[in-house]
Amino acid sequence: MPVITSIDDLKRIYARRVPRMFYDYAESGSWSEQTFRENTTDFDRIYLRQRVAIDMTGRNMGSKMIGQDVAMPVGLAPVGLTGMQHADGEIKAARAAEKFGVPFTLSTMSICSIEDVAEHTTKPFWMQVYTLKDDDFMQRLFDRARDAGCSAAMITVDLQMLGQRHKDLKNGLSAPPKLTPASVANMMTKVHWGLGMLGTKRRFFGNIVGHAKGVTDPSSLSAWTAEAFDQALDWDRIRQFRKMWEGPLIIKGIMDPRDAREALNVGADAIIVSNHGGRQLDGAISAIRALPEIMDAVGDRIEVHLDSGIRSGQDVLKALAMGAKGTYIGRAFVYGLGAMGEAGVTKTLELIYKELDTSMGLCGRRDVRDLDRDILMIPRGFSGDWE
Ligand SMILES: Cc1cc2nc3c(=O)[nH]c(=O)nc-3n(C[C@H](O)[C@H](O)[C@H](O)COP(=O)(O)O)c2cc1C
Repeated sequence: MPVITSIDDLKRIYARRVPRMFYDYAESGSWSEQTFRENTTDFDRIYLRQRVAIDMTGRNMGSKMIGQDVAMPVGLAPVGLTGMQHADGEIKAARAAEKFGVPFTLSTMSICSIEDVAEHTTKPFWMQVYTLKDDDFMQRLFDRARDAGCSAAMITVDLQMLGQRHKDLKNGLSAPPKLTPASVANMMTKVHWGLGMLGTKRRFFGNIVGHAKGVTDPSSLSAWTAEAFDQALDWDRIRQFRKMWEGPLIIKGIMDPRDAREALNVGADAIIVSNHGGRQLDGAISAIRALPEIMDAVGDRIEVHLDSGIRSGQDVLKALAMGAKGTYIGRAFVYGLGAMGEAGVTKTLELIYKELDTSMGLCGRRDVRDLDRDILMIPRGFSGDWE
């Protein structure tokens, strides 16, 4: 096994080990992928201000997200089909997160079910909820999350319709994978992955199959998904969901200050500035560029988190210094998971922790809870001077 020193190392191993169809599913954005690309390249446009001869001892990385203790303010974002990146992927990732002391968020579109993840972990995790038309299904999803002990619900509001990813259409992405000559030939080269998959029963969408009306077998699922997402979603509907769930609520997928204010009015405990990792509206600005305007609009009244584009502890540092109280990683943990299972997710978290800690110290700061824009050099016009 090579010496792993960066998230990029994990990504290279991930690319070798996981079938092309699932690699492509994670490693793409919608349409031209401009937003997907700029989510990461915009982090590089922000510089860190080096300071010297400042006592750097006794640094603190622990913080709180929605009032819950975290070892560092970096959670695992909800990622659909995680159990196809590695056998039992959601359970593996949730275990790595709980041992590390950071939140794990289970996607509605996960392979392992809510109950299954709860049974194989010891600490509460967070439940991501898509906004579907079917009220019974929605109420049951919140009830199941509560019964499983989930300590927050995260409603994703940026997927009323699905952004198009060319590769998924060309690959005929599905879970379990469709057996075509090309997909079989590719899977046969992924020995670790294949053995893992042969050894598990968890190969279908565990939160849906058998739970949604009319979906008793996986082949009826794609028709259900196309029908199920609610294009008519509005803030009143989100208020109804707020009533279905009594616990802490996070609203994910905010890119505009006006929507941030609406989320505040709904009574959310936090919002996530996110463009879904560049998978929904291509041509939108990067999440890190959208952050300052949203901080100015609501940052003193609601906890603001950010995801999309984070690939290092330095990216986390930049988001925190710009005012975010929490961040999430999507692809960065998927790389680790696909490369090395649970140990790979732990490795991702360790790498990010170390980078964040060292970079913070070299900026002359000792506490992640106490960062501000003074450690950053942000190019003029970064947050936009739009017509
Ligand atoms: C493969 C993949 C699947 C995803 N599935 C979901 C999902 O089921 N629900 C959701 O709210 N977000 C989903 N997302 C978006 C992530 O939660 C997160 O917003 C995004 O990955 C952040 O960008 P990053 O990958 O650059 O860190 C998914 C992202 C990826 C890459």
